[in-house]
Amino acid sequence: MKLKGLPETGLEGKRVLVRVDFNVPLRDGAVSDDTRIRAHLDTIRRLREAGARISLISHLGRPKGKVSPEFSLRPVAYRLAELTGWDVGFVDECMGPLVAGAVAEARPGSILVLENVRFHPEEEKNDPSFAKALAVPFDAFVMDAFSAAHRAHASTAGITAFLPSYAGILLCREVEILGQVRDHPKRPFILILGGAKVSDKIGVIGHLLEKVDTLVIGGGMAFTFLKAQGGNVGRSLVEQDRIGFAENLLAEAASRNIEVLLPEDIVAGDSPDSSGPIEIVPSKAIPEHLMGLDIGPKAAEAFSRAIAGASTVLWNGPMGVFENPCFAEGTRRIAKSLEEATSLGCQTVVGGGDTAAAVGSMGFADKVSHVSTGGGASLEFFEGLPLPGIQPFVLD
Ligand code: 3PG
Repeated sequence: MKLKGLPETGLEGKRVLVRVDFNVPLRDGAVSDDTRIRAHLDTIRRLREAGARISLISHLGRPKGKVSPEFSLRPVAYRLAELTGWDVGFVDECMGPLVAGAVAEARPGSILVLENVRFHPEEEKNDPSFAKALAVPFDAFVMDAFSAAHRAHASTAGITAFLPSYAGILLCREVEILGQVRDHPKRPFILILGGAKVSDKIGVIGHLLEKVDTLVIGGGMAFTFLKAQGGNVGRSLVEQDRIGFAENLLAEAASRNIEVLLPEDIVAGDSPDSSGPIEIVPSKAIPEHLMGLDIGPKAAEAFSRAIAGASTVLWNGPMGVFENPCFAEGTRRIAKSLEEATSLGCQTVVGGGDTAAAVGSMGFADKVSHVSTGGGASLEFFEGLPLPGIQPFVLD
């Protein structure tokens, strides 16, 4: 899938508004993880070198249309300057005379960070007059926020009606790589799903099943499948209303010769924040008083063997409660297997959100082919849904 990217020429001196996703975690008023800021640097650098006058617009958190100082983008502007050594200005608004004044005074190559666009209720309503007001001080718009592209908001979608608009480098890269995996995966293709809930992944399974050779299911969602197979899963998380879906999926996969791997053993404990004791138990015979919180060593071994034979791996959802070191090993083993597969030429793609956080915190982010910045956005993309922040730029 190709998008209309940045123009080769003609940006010098132009006032360019770039939609980024600076929705980053803050701790004690400072950015605690700048991955999302760094993800936009290629686009910002390219515009800077072209001599554009750059303004960056983003949301941060969910302030529900009200000015909320705890969701201000000021610390993000500070971090961007610290990270790059560039001179970065901050404007206390995202529209109106304050922005118009600052943009009018900006020099070619300069960077302004505008205040949180979600301080205005019209943003999430995709209000056309608000989108038009955002556009007023600018000559062009660049959409670079893949992770917000599933939102039909004024700053992600509506604004494209009012300015010449282009996809930024990050957005183009995400769509090209994820699109290739979704639409033309090199076989054998393994889809690894985890995370808490089956219901979050139903759309992805529905869209990708016909292309998949092996479906690996770990994480909390595995227990609904194990239950559907008649297993005793103790106090593990089970979505009762998805057991029927799990039964049908297992039957459909069998009829299509798609291999489904469920964990053979499980690391069980008292609760997700338990510090022990833990037990490794057969996945279909979990003691009544325990819950499954990670895949066991035999399961990790079997999943790793499958990964070793793949040409494409897409992974979305951790294998266990990785935030707790007692239940992190399964996720770490899968990340390690992806690293090994990548070094042998397999294309390995990690969906955003929790899986990206896990891979990042375990030191594997630069050892796989691609880690997406999009959580909800990458799920919707893999469901085959048209994303409102991408559609205006699609060329083929
Ligand atoms: C995300 O963190 O997934 C994006 O920034 C989108 O945020 P939202 O779910 O609040 O729209």
